[in-house]
Amino acid sequence: GAPAADKQAKVLKVGSSIDFPPFEFQDETQKEYQGFDMDLIRAIGKEMGREVEIQNLGFDGLIPALQGKSIDVAISGMTINDERKANVLFSDPYYQSGLTMVVRQDEEAIKKFSDLKGKKVAVQIGTTSAAEVKKLEGVTVTELNTPADCFMELKAKGVDAVVNDRPVNDYFITKNAAQGVKVLDEKLTAEDYGIAINKDNAELQKEINAAFKKLKENGEYDKIFAKWFGE
Ligand code: ARG
Repeated sequence: GAPAADKQAKVLKVGSSIDFPPFEFQDETQKEYQGFDMDLIRAIGKEMGREVEIQNLGFDGLIPALQGKSIDVAISGMTINDERKANVLFSDPYYQSGLTMVVRQDEEAIKKFSDLKGKKVAVQIGTTSAAEVKKLEGVTVTELNTPADCFMELKAKGVDAVVNDRPVNDYFITKNAAQGVKVLDEKLTAEDYGIAINKDNAELQKEINAAFKKLKENGEYDKIFAKWFGE
């Protein structure tokens, strides 16, 4: 075909909900999206010889965008689970995560998840946190657009706790000068992140896994991991 069409075909259209530091976020001083997922998908694209184009979408809009084929893949700290597997394919797992809880510094009544009975909890809409907290008995759940909105609501005392992914909670507490809040140790779940791919595109899933495997073998994955998690 025409050169322009060839170049077009090479673009890997990526969706992400850019609200999840250190996985995906926008740093005021930089134009490009930052984070572990951003570096990983750019490295995967490079390995595949494809240009990567990242679109910022709401987290609950990512799977619909994959189904509608406006994006090829979604990388967004997305937990691999059976419910989602009914609608999308996942790459091999690339990060081990899980859910923890953030409360105000002076909180005395909430020390573990079972203390949430009768309490108000904020979660990001469409996430595993939302699904898991809804399973807890006697909890009033407030679903907000982003984790940042949830933390604001906690500080404003509109809720008593925020349930969210552990690495994001830890980053928020340590890097974001989050005063007046603390993260609790107990883990509600263990979860693995995967790159989501359109259900009909098993070929792309294979290519992504092959590129990912290469990055694990050549040390590139470890470098990206060390950059964001310092290990
Ligand atoms: N791991 C959780 C899930 O899959 C939360 C992911 C939220 N990601 C984001 N970029 N806001 O539901």
